[in-house]
Amino acid sequence: MSDNVIRIFDTTLRDGEQSPGCSMNMAEKLEVANALVELGVDIIEAGFPIASPDDFKAVKTIAEQLGDRTTICGLARCRAEDIDRAWEALKHAQNSRIHVFLATSAIHMQYKLKMAEEEIVRRTAEMVGRARGYCDNIEFSPEDASRTELDFLCKVVETAITAGATTVNIPDTVGYATPSHYYNMIRTLKTQVPNIDQAIISTHCHNDLGLAVANSLAAVEAGARQVECTMNGLGERAGNAALEEIVMALKTRSDYYNITTNIKTQRLVPTSRLVSSVTGMKVQRNKAIVGQNAFAHEAGIHQHGMLQERTTYEIMRPEDVGFLGTNLVLGKHSGRHAFQDRLTSLGYTPDEETFQKVFDDFITLADKKKEVYDADIVALMEQRSHKV
Ligand code: KIV
Ligand code: ZN
Repeated sequence: MSDNVIRIFDTTLRDGEQSPGCSMNMAEKLEVANALVELGVDIIEAGFPIASPDDFKAVKTIAEQLGDRTTICGLARCRAEDIDRAWEALKHAQNSRIHVFLATSAIHMQYKLKMAEEEIVRRTAEMVGRARGYCDNIEFSPEDASRTELDFLCKVVETAITAGATTVNIPDTVGYATPSHYYNMIRTLKTQVPNIDQAIISTHCHNDLGLAVANSLAAVEAGARQVECTMNGLGERAGNAALEEIVMALKTRSDYYNITTNIKTQRLVPTSRLVSSVTGMKVQRNKAIVGQNAFAHEAGIHQHGMLQERTTYEIMRPEDVGFLGTNLVLGKHSGRHAFQDRLTSLGYTPDEETFQKVFDDFITLADKKKEVYDADIVALMEQRSHKV
C-alpha cells in the first residue's frame, strides 16, 4: 500500500462492543462485519477470542466467512493461552492478524499488572514472538501509551518490532492525550526507535476529552498510517475515534493531508444506521457526518445561500456520505427564498398576493411547531385554495 493511503482498522465489534449496553449477538456481529466489508475497511477487529465462548465463535465465524475479503483481527493479552486461542479462531481466514497488547504506563504496571519494566520488555519479546510463530501479520499495542514514560515506550516498541510486530499501535487508552502531545509522541517514536520503519504506526484514541478524532489526525500528520476507530464513535466510556469523521476529514481536507483511504464513503450513513439499530445506541441528531442534522439547514440566510450555491454552507456533499441530499428544513428561521423554492418543488406557483398570505400562515405555524413538513405546506396552500 502506498505511503499516502491510511489503513482503516475498525474495532466496532471489539472496543465498540465493550461499550455498556452495546453487546451484539452472533447474527448481528456477522451483519455488521458484512457491512464493514462493503464499506471498505482494511482490517476488522472481530473480537477478543479468549474473553468468552461467544466471542471466540464470533471471531471464528467472521474469519471463516469474510477472511478472504478483508483482514480479520483477534485481540490477545500478552499471555500464551490468549494468543493460542486467538490463532485458533483466526487460522482459517485467508488474511488474519493477531493483536497483542500489554500495558506500559507506570500506573498500569504498578496497580494492574504488578510487573517491573524488565518483565514487560521480556514478555513483549516472548509473546510477540509466539504470535509471529503462527501468523506473519502481528500488531502490538503498549496499552496506556500516552501515559507511558517516553524512553520506556520507545524501548518496548523497538522490542516488539524486533520480535516480529508488523504494526505498532499507540493507544491513548484513557483519552488523556491532546493533539500536540500525541503528535510529539508519534514523532519521537519515528525518530528514536531504530527499527520503526519495519512497522506501520497506528493510532487508537479514546474520546474522554472529546479529542479522539483530533488526536488521530495529529498522529497521521506525524506519520501514522493506520487509524483504529469505530462506527459512530462507539466504545468504552466516551467512545473511540469515529470512523466516519476521520475518513471524511481526510477526504474533505485532502488538499492539506494528501492522503486517501479505501472507504466507500457513500456507505457511511447506511453502516452507521445499521450499527445504531443493532446496538440500540442512538446517533445524536447533530453528530458530524451521519447525524440527521448533519446536512440540514434552517436559517434563512443559510438556506438562501444554499439555493444560490451549495458550497456557501456545505463543505461535503450529503450524497457522498450516503444521504439522499441536502435537507432545507422549514422552520421559524427560514426565509422567503426557501419557502418559495419548496412551494415550487411541490407544484405551487401562487401569485404575489397569495404567496404573501401563505408565507404569513407559514410563519405563524412555524412559531408553534419545531419543523414544518411538506404536508403542512400543502395544507396551508389548500386552505388558500390556490393550487395551480
Ligand atoms: O484502549 C486500548 O488501549 C485498547 C487496547 C486493547 C488496544 O483498546
Ligand atoms: Zn481501546
